[in-house]
Amino acid sequence: MEKQPDNAGGIGRRSFLKRTAWAGAALCIAPTLERVHAAGRTVTDRPERLAGMASISRQRTLGSGSAAFTVSAMGFGCMGLNYHRSGHPDEQACIRLVHEAIDRGVTLFDTAESYGPFTNERLVGKALKGYAGRVNVTTKFGHKFVNGVQVKTEEDSTPANIRKVCENSLRSLGVESIALFYQHRSDPNTPIEAVAETVAQLIREGKVQHFGLCEVNAETIRRAHAICPVTAIQSEYHLMHRTVEESVLPLCRELGIGFVPYSPINRGFLGGLINEYTQFSPNDNRQTLPRFQPEAIRRNLRIVEVLNAFGRTRGYTPAQIALAWLMHRGNFIVPIPGTTKLSHLEENLRAADITLTAGEMRELEAAVSAIPVTGSRYDALQESKVQR
Ligand SMILES: NC(=O)c1ccc[n+]([C@@H]2O[C@H](COP(=O)([O-])OP(=O)(O)OC[C@H]3O[C@@H](n4cnc5c(N)ncnc54)[C@H](OP(=O)(O)O)[C@@H]3O)[C@@H](O)[C@H]2O)c1
Repeated sequence: MEKQPDNAGGIGRRSFLKRTAWAGAALCIAPTLERVHAAGRTVTDRPERLAGMASISRQRTLGSGSAAFTVSAMGFGCMGLNYHRSGHPDEQACIRLVHEAIDRGVTLFDTAESYGPFTNERLVGKALKGYAGRVNVTTKFGHKFVNGVQVKTEEDSTPANIRKVCENSLRSLGVESIALFYQHRSDPNTPIEAVAETVAQLIREGKVQHFGLCEVNAETIRRAHAICPVTAIQSEYHLMHRTVEESVLPLCRELGIGFVPYSPINRGFLGGLINEYTQFSPNDNRQTLPRFQPEAIRRNLRIVEVLNAFGRTRGYTPAQIALAWLMHRGNFIVPIPGTTKLSHLEENLRAADITLTAGEMRELEAAVSAIPVTGSRYDALQESKVQR
């Protein structure tokens, strides 16, 4: 359910660039003062320098009934700040960017035990220090670690491990309760009922507020929801990967479960700044993904060109079109794009103001669907762990 639909009307590219330039200039002259006061200010106290800048005031509710969780209509995926993406800023710059997102109305921040591993949660914990109860951080359990190293062939959602991760995440994030605790990947050796029951106990103990699952199929969702009401499913969803439309999204609608599309810009690809010559950093997982090999990129750029052409006449960037399309697929959908840049943060937030008609949605979908996607999103091992 969407709240406060008060950001009517879109903002074109020229206006966006002008405002972003002002935001950048303001950021250069005012940061010291802002930092001094950061700990004391409230989320709703928007600094004066942000007047007229991109922000998000719309909210959406993930889940329903006792599992309802109201957040900004677009969240912030924190993974790429220091893991799996290229060009990580230093810690202070990451923290400043998270604060910029809060100032602009973002109340949903996503991380996981496995990002880093462990370092992303600690970074997010530092950035959100002092904001507990005003913004929400979601994290994930379920990968298997031995001596701090992930065992990629196995998962671990045993009740003992869920509890261990919960305690570690509470410590790393510096919070008393995790706003939403997702299972990261299903564990074939632990029935989903046991997972749901463990999270239900953590909710009763006040250590977790809401339950979520990632990349599971409809049957698993139904079984989990029968034990502990699910607030959100987090799975990959964007114009180049629409599998969840077959049975997961209809079930979310039926059961009143929210949906959080991860990698909503297809790991940056739909932003239009990646081409076959792009060099990814050694720790950027995109270089291992079939869809990010040079030949696949070269072929798939035709899809970005569709978004470019669609956005060009309307004054929007391809990333904005990608995000606006997702947000129009249902008001129970809250994308979590990641970025390391203030300009992209602003650009992405403005996508929440875009209105697309049903005809425009059909036009966009038809143009994109006419181009076959080259390369699978994951390698064989990763693919074997999703939608089960
Ligand atoms: N549950 C899961 O299994 C799972 C898996 C993957 C991700 N996630 C979550 O989803 C979040 C987002 O996923 P993601 O980082 O994989 O993908 P994404 O949000 O689709 O893309 C992020 C990439 O896009 C670039 N970008 C952002 N805004 C842009 C814009 N306006 N124009 C051009 N490029 C832009 C960013 O680069 P710049 O830094 O240069 O902006 C970054 O490299 C993660 O942080 C994580 O929380 C969850």
